[in-house]
Amino acid sequence: MKRVDDFRLRFGKKELVPIITGGMGVDISTAELALVAARLGGIGHISDAMVPTVSDRRFKTRFVKDKLKKYKYNVANVDKSDVQFDLERLAEATKLHVGRTMEAKKGDGLIFINCMEKLTMNSPRETLRVRISAAMDGGIDGITLSAGLHLGSLALVQDHPRFRDVKFGIIVSSLRALLLFLRKNARLDRLPDYIIVEGPLAGGHLGFGMDWVQYDLKTIIDEIHRHMTQEGLNIPVIAAGGVFTGSDAVGFLEAGAAAVQVATRFTVTKECGLPDKVNDGSGHCAYIDAYNREIEKHPDGENISVMDKTCLCTQMRNFDCWTCGHYTYRLKDTSRRLPDGTYQLLNAEHVFRDYLFSTDHQLALPPA
Ligand SMILES: Cc1cc2nc3c(=O)[nH]c(=O)nc-3n(C[C@H](O)[C@H](O)[C@H](O)COP(=O)(O)O)c2cc1C
Repeated sequence: MKRVDDFRLRFGKKELVPIITGGMGVDISTAELALVAARLGGIGHISDAMVPTVSDRRFKTRFVKDKLKKYKYNVANVDKSDVQFDLERLAEATKLHVGRTMEAKKGDGLIFINCMEKLTMNSPRETLRVRISAAMDGGIDGITLSAGLHLGSLALVQDHPRFRDVKFGIIVSSLRALLLFLRKNARLDRLPDYIIVEGPLAGGHLGFGMDWVQYDLKTIIDEIHRHMTQEGLNIPVIAAGGVFTGSDAVGFLEAGAAAVQVATRFTVTKECGLPDKVNDGSGHCAYIDAYNREIEKHPDGENISVMDKTCLCTQMRNFDCWTCGHYTYRLKDTSRRLPDGTYQLLNAEHVFRDYLFSTDHQLALPPA
């Protein structure tokens, strides 16, 4: 019976363990988590969401305080058009976050950064250019373009000296999105180095609507594989979303995926940046509480609107509300319940190795 460790992800001559920890915004996929994946021969993502805040926390810098000081006069003003990302400081924070992470890297694996297109607010093109360029300057191994079609993102950095040396990948949820990306970037003569296909069971912000249940990751991947064969394209395709056991991963690897990207299982590890109280034993979720409150007010279930809980990154952080993947309810089966009712936090190496060596959909419990 095959295990994930029987497969390898190939980038040219480089061989990697085919497990990628996915980017999770606002420092849930911390450097510590990514460094474990890289040390064990896989790929770990950090995220470039709100990097100035992350840098302040990690390195005691003052990016956020300084910005508040600069715009103090405007705090009570409803018109925020004056407030701009200070691009130089954004570059500085990104280089620091990426640079320090890369310096700490050990082992044969790689560290990538997750770059969400939708994150940009004022001057989106410039902000995106700065974020991607600064990550390359900081020495990142690869950049995963996500949360958007990224039709112009590669062109923004085509003159960067590392444009052809950094690995670039894109996250898509359909062949249609992939085709748009490939067509738009054809003139750059720079194909993506990998394609992550994210199905409807993944965590984070997904490219599916209320009809998500009609989609299935294997079907989307097969469609993309067929297209690539027709076009003679040889780009590693990576499966993401609902890969909960090593055997789930083997299923995708046997069907031709080059690797799997996983995230939800790592949210209950010590290295992950989810606040401890989110991982309490009660399964409490602020979003569901607010939703239930509205349902009580409107028992007919019509016109439900939860105005105080919007799943944007900042709101998520403010309300301790995180969108993990479909199989979050199974996380309790991956650990031991302690006498006080809470669950033992895992370490990332344990979860990584469980993916690597498990068979028969077994989940290895941590040592007691
Ligand atoms: C808490 C959480 C936050 C996430 N945040 C992001 C993000 O900021 N950007 C992104 O592209 N994907 C994000 N994702 C998606 C993951 O990178 C990954 O592709 C997906 O969750 C894999 O499915 P799984 O969680 O079922 O393993 C997030 C996932 C989780 C669980």
